[in-house]
Amino acid sequence: MSTMPAPPPAKIAIIGSGAVGSTIAFSLIMNRLPAEIILSDIDTRRAGGEALDLSDATFVSSSSVRVAKNQQEVGQCDIIVITAGAKQKPGESRANLIDRNYHIMQSVIKGMQPINPNAKIIIVANPVEILCHIAQKLSGLPRNQVFGSGTFLDSARLRLSVAEMLNVHESSVHCYVVGEHGDNQLVAWSAGRVGGAPLLNFDQFKNADLAHIAHEVARKAYEIIDRKGATYYGIGACVASLAESVLYHSRRVFPISCYNPESECYVSVPAVLGNDGVQHAVQLPLDDKEKAAFDEAVKSIKSITEKYN
Ligand code: LAC
Repeated sequence: MSTMPAPPPAKIAIIGSGAVGSTIAFSLIMNRLPAEIILSDIDTRRAGGEALDLSDATFVSSSSVRVAKNQQEVGQCDIIVITAGAKQKPGESRANLIDRNYHIMQSVIKGMQPINPNAKIIIVANPVEILCHIAQKLSGLPRNQVFGSGTFLDSARLRLSVAEMLNVHESSVHCYVVGEHGDNQLVAWSAGRVGGAPLLNFDQFKNADLAHIAHEVARKAYEIIDRKGATYYGIGACVASLAESVLYHSRRVFPISCYNPESECYVSVPAVLGNDGVQHAVQLPLDDKEKAAFDEAVKSIKSITEKYN
């Protein structure tokens, strides 16, 4: 029986080849994704340098790396990761970045037109939920094809803290940060499970200071930025996982910024991610306090996105 020729490698564009964008590219290579990674940046010399450096790592995988020939090529890729934007300075909130990053997003989306109608856009720049809304409006792609890294990184930080408290591996901790990747995030403690058992039933959590744990998670990025100026390893690993779930149609559940019909806005909730993008959100059973905090996050997100309709 004749074998089908291997499909051409997926094209993954990364717009913004600074620390975050280049670490995403490195994570894709180290995850051995069969992808043609295409870097794009206003600083083409920097992008060229990153591509040359990253290409020295491709021997471990079947990935390749190069700089985009032009912006139109970016728009035709299968997955388009957008990291371009101002980054938080020490002590600066993600919400403070919106005006600068709105204009950058406008320029990026306009520059890559026409956009592949089947492209999946992954927003990483902050504030990610707001920028997902803007990117979806400007690109005209269906809402399920535009999503963001959201609270995936916050949830990874939470799982690490919980795993250390319970002396288990993070992969056995199922507990989510939801709402927004920002100061209005909240932990869905009541829905947390470890080995199928309610997290809050574990002795270590019966009298734990949950607010303090959640605060430490929410502030971790500020702490890292204060010490080293930026964060990039965690977000790089997160975005590579998202791209992998799309490419392989893994249908893994991730807490990502996606359009939530119930909230009528982009908000970070657990959602199933496959080759058509976001398949559907998973409705977490929140308790009254968590639901009130989630509604506050939605209200905050909508109050900002309505300025960009
Ligand atoms: C952080 C950046 C990616 O939370 O927002 O590290």
